[in-house]
Amino acid sequence: MNVIYNEDCRKTLAVGSPLYYDYIFTSPPDFNELGMEPTQAKDYIDFLHSVFSLCKLNTAITLAFTDRKFDSGIISKSSMAIGLFQDLGWKLKSHKIWVKSEKIDLFRLTYANVLTFTFGNCQIKQQNHNDFKPDVWADGWYRGAGGFTNSLPQKVAERCILNFTALGQTVYNPFMGIGQTAIACIATGRNYIGSELSSEVYDIARKRIEEYNASFTT
Ligand SMILES: C[S@@+](CC[C@H](N)C(=O)[O-])C[C@H]1O[C@@H](n2cnc3c(N)ncnc32)[C@H](O)[C@@H]1O
Repeated sequence: MNVIYNEDCRKTLAVGSPLYYDYIFTSPPDFNELGMEPTQAKDYIDFLHSVFSLCKLNTAITLAFTDRKFDSGIISKSSMAIGLFQDLGWKLKSHKIWVKSEKIDLFRLTYANVLTFTFGNCQIKQQNHNDFKPDVWADGWYRGAGGFTNSLPQKVAERCILNFTALGQTVYNPFMGIGQTAIACIATGRNYIGSELSSEVYDIARKRIEEYNASFTT
């Protein structure tokens, strides 16, 4: 099933939902996308908890996090996530660095932490994919798509999807954004499911996926 739900991911993940997935790949929203200040660490962790405590346990979850510069210091969202997942009983399985740019950015670090967690009885079999093996990935940004600049490049999603899933398996992204994960799934022969709260962003994702699919038939 390839589908994106235009709704809060907590609704998609709610108990009783028919959601089936093998693996989660996502880039969670930053503070401002949630109407929070970077100082609201507890609220941010509570939000992440409200989402990831709903995820099934026998899988792997990969999160791409860019830490924030703030008040002459660094607010480390990735450290918050590591603490939260360990509290929830997950193990940090891999930690990769995705180098986004060498250009100085006033607010964000120019690299992201790509963190994969697994739970005790994880049924994921790593594919030992060559693209996943280096610990630092110089994949740059994806730029474009309806004014949404600086998005996740397809390559980062593909590296993870190729390593943590087999052909025909299903990847869920609770924060689908403009659809990079979905396009990476189509490109690698996986199925995708996503949630995206914003109708505007959801429309962009659907249009981009349609155009990507059409590019194979014209
Ligand atoms: C960091 S962006 C995802 C970026 C994505 N990797 C891309 O390249 O487009 C986070 C997305 O999560 C969405 N979002 C925020 N809260 C959400 C929620 N509760 N449920 C689903 N989507 C949500 C935002 O609208 C935003 O598009």
